Amino acid sequence: MRVLVTGGAGYIGSHTTLALLKEGHDVLVVDDLSNSSVESLHRVAELAGREAGFVEANVRDEAALDAAFADFTPEAVIHFAGWKAVGESTQIPLVYYRENLGSTITLLEVMAQHGCRSIVFSSSATVYGELSEPPFTEDAPTGATNPYGRTKHMIEQILADVAAADDQLRVAVLRYFNPIGADESGRIGEDPKGIPNNLLPFVAQVAAGRREKLMVFGDDYPTPDGTGTRDYIHVVDLAAGHLAALGHLQDHDGYHVWNLGTGQPSSVLDIVHAFEKASGVTIPYEVAPRRPGDVASSFADPKLAQTELGWRAELSVEQACADTHRWQAANPNGFADA
Ligand code: UD1
Repeated sequence: MRVLVTGGAGYIGSHTTLALLKEGHDVLVVDDLSNSSVESLHRVAELAGREAGFVEANVRDEAALDAAFADFTPEAVIHFAGWKAVGESTQIPLVYYRENLGSTITLLEVMAQHGCRSIVFSSSATVYGELSEPPFTEDAPTGATNPYGRTKHMIEQILADVAAADDQLRVAVLRYFNPIGADESGRIGEDPKGIPNNLLPFVAQVAAGRREKLMVFGDDYPTPDGTGTRDYIHVVDLAAGHLAALGHLQDHDGYHVWNLGTGQPSSVLDIVHAFEKASGVTIPYEVAPRRPGDVASSFADPKLAQTELGWRAELSVEQACADTHRWQAANPNGFADA
């Protein structure tokens, strides 16, 4: 297939682009590089033995998108591009609404103009909030507790409305749990700008000596060891989930939602210990107050994706820690080292 990938130079986007190229698909990445590096695509090409096309543009740029569709004639789109930092979204909410909603609306309009009928969208388990208890099934109640999460929730609703109005449109909403890990080559991985918000990149930078110690946000949650638990999924498994969803859309129309998770919760301390084991490095940490907005526990019921897509997560947290460490150790400053 010819697949247009927005945000394809980013963390999950680059791993998915690699998986698509390895499976023989043709890929055009549209990315404005606002939070990613084109070096990731050079490395994807080196790993795949063939390259994805690349257009440097914001997805809200209708003229650029129109030209990309006219030139590449994609049969499907995977839409990763978006702003994703929870704390930042509470400071600059309009940027989040403009970028995340605006890009999706422009993309859907341009897809319609070019007769492109399949879209896979990067949603988040953040839409489950604290409205019910995990494990979350796809029909659990949804809502969101911050502007970033609300953009994901609103985009899901936009996609459902557009699919209801157009019986030829095929939509897969993928609700990611916590993506971690890196390609086992250590050539591509997560490269956050500034101080990482998320646990794994922070732990990896402590192990690499770039940060002194980890702050563990809360050890008084109602969980087995008191630290928050999450469903950490290897990014290579996550990428495979996108290919499975894309395959499903080839012979199923309508609107679909799937969780992409493992179903297995791990605590912050489980991750620290797994990382220590994988890297052989001790991770100094200190317990700090809870981070505002954090939930005690979030993990998937992954059965629907298993039965409908034939997809399941295969790789362990230990494998993900080893892969993250390999990436971080070889690229202490991420793609800036290239
Ligand atoms: C966060 C976002 C979520 C978003 C996801 C992907 C929040 C509240 N949630 O998920 O909406 O979809 O990232 O980007 O920001 N932790 C520490 N010390 C750290 C960092 C994290 O103890 O330095 C703990 C957290 O308290 C949590 C766990 O590690 O228990 C995972 O945190 P993180 O990696 O930030 O992911 P989420 O909060 O689950």
